[in-house]
Amino acid sequence: MKFATSFLTAFTAFFSIFPTFAQASDMRSTVLKNAALDAGFLAAHETHVATNFELVLVGKTLFESRLLSLAEDIACASCHLDQFGSADGLPIAIGTEGTGVGAQRVVNGGDIVPRNTLPFWGRGGVGFNVFFWDGKVDSSSGKVKSQFGDHTPSHDPLVVAVHLPPVEVGEMVIDLDETKILQTESLSSADSLYTLIAERIEKDEEISLALAKAKEIEKDQIVFRDIAEAIAAFIRFNFRVKPTRFHEFVFGNTHLTDLEQKGGLLFYGRGGCSQCHNGPYFSDLEFHPVAFPQVGFGKNGFGVDYGRFNVTLSENDKYTFRTPPLLNVTKTAPYSHSGSTFQLSEAIRAHIDPLALIDTKTMSANARVEFYEKLKLWGSSATSGAVLTDEDIQAIEAFLHTLEYESEMQVNVVD
Ligand code: HEC
Ligand code: HEC
Repeated sequence: MKFATSFLTAFTAFFSIFPTFAQASDMRSTVLKNAALDAGFLAAHETHVATNFELVLVGKTLFESRLLSLAEDIACASCHLDQFGSADGLPIAIGTEGTGVGAQRVVNGGDIVPRNTLPFWGRGGVGFNVFFWDGKVDSSSGKVKSQFGDHTPSHDPLVVAVHLPPVEVGEMVIDLDETKILQTESLSSADSLYTLIAERIEKDEEISLALAKAKEIEKDQIVFRDIAEAIAAFIRFNFRVKPTRFHEFVFGNTHLTDLEQKGGLLFYGRGGCSQCHNGPYFSDLEFHPVAFPQVGFGKNGFGVDYGRFNVTLSENDKYTFRTPPLLNVTKTAPYSHSGSTFQLSEAIRAHIDPLALIDTKTMSANARVEFYEKLKLWGSSATSGAVLTDEDIQAIEAFLHTLEYESEMQVNVVD
């Protein structure tokens, strides 16, 4: 009898608690969904910009073609590879005179591009209008700002962005004495490179016929802008946002695990991540200082990269970088503009506890001074002040895994 009573008590207690659990979990889901929507998260299709499929297909061939590099030794696809989530798996890129894929490029050697390769997820979608780590192509004001000044080759910032790699020394322009004339990165040497590349493409029967047909022009009318438009169409289409598990959770009936949900709530809540990583691409497309370690080469010399300052020359922009979008971020290690963190957990930790990742004793005096400057800015930025435990970071990592999706087509490897 005693047993039966206590059993019943437990039984009724269980069933009176159970709905509370269910309600609490429902409530957490609703809070997370609303937080995402409030932070500008959109259904995948709402980010799509229409593309001409014929142009997309030629764009893919051009993306995989070495004809776009001065010495015909490297293609876009040498650094933007499927296996590394459309980046290259390296801290900083190795361009001309490099061979192989991923770590092989470091072993084989080659010219250094002093920034971490950016991936393409969502690039060129609705509202995606700031390109590169330092925003050197930016149409957020409604007008394309870039090194082309008033002579912008296009009003589509992605088309302008595609114009840059083929004229960048070390990236696709080989650094040799006999090519010095083309290595000034001035507008006129860029123009002569564009003419040279367009002539080469015109001579390639297959590509030029397909490109002319897609653009409804004659073969001999092809200019570099047509080539860039085709590659931009390919990037825009192939890497466009597709429904991730998180989309299916927010807009459908998919459940997240408890850990993913906890991570999502931290991301939009106490972790403060969505102050910058917001919108449909998880980036405000603005510039902020985060005290990531700077390893090896930087844009401004050994151990130094001033980021946005290189574009605006404004002191306030020193050490700031465009907030990186986070779709498929689980596939694109190493992280940050300098590729200084290999684990996703470290990249998250760098925001809130930068000293945990650094042994200042092993740094040069100069690198230490640079790092202190960065810490000062970080101290008053939105990333400092949050306390996240290892378990919290693990949960945020689990949440970031729900932002994965696949590209449309397979890019062929060109080493
Ligand atoms: C040597 C390796 C390398 C090659 C070759 C290369 N890229 Fe990149 N790509 C990079 C790096 C590194 C960055 C980041 C540079 C920066 O922001 O300063 C980048 C960034 C970009 C971006 C900006 C993405 C964003 O999030 O803003 C675009 C677009 C791009 N590349 C397109 C191309 C195209 C098109 C080609 C071929 C014409 C190409 N890349 C060739 C390494 C490479
Ligand atoms: C103040 C704005 C800001 C906040 C808040 C912020 N981030 Fe970032 N995040 C950035 C910027 C800027 C970078 C790139 C910095 C650099 O390369 O030097 C970055 C880099 C990253 C990267 C590396 C991505 C890559 O492709 O290299 C990850 C992952 C990341 N943030 C996740 C988070 C998470 C998780 C949080 C919350 C704990 C967070 N961020 C909070 C601005 C922010």
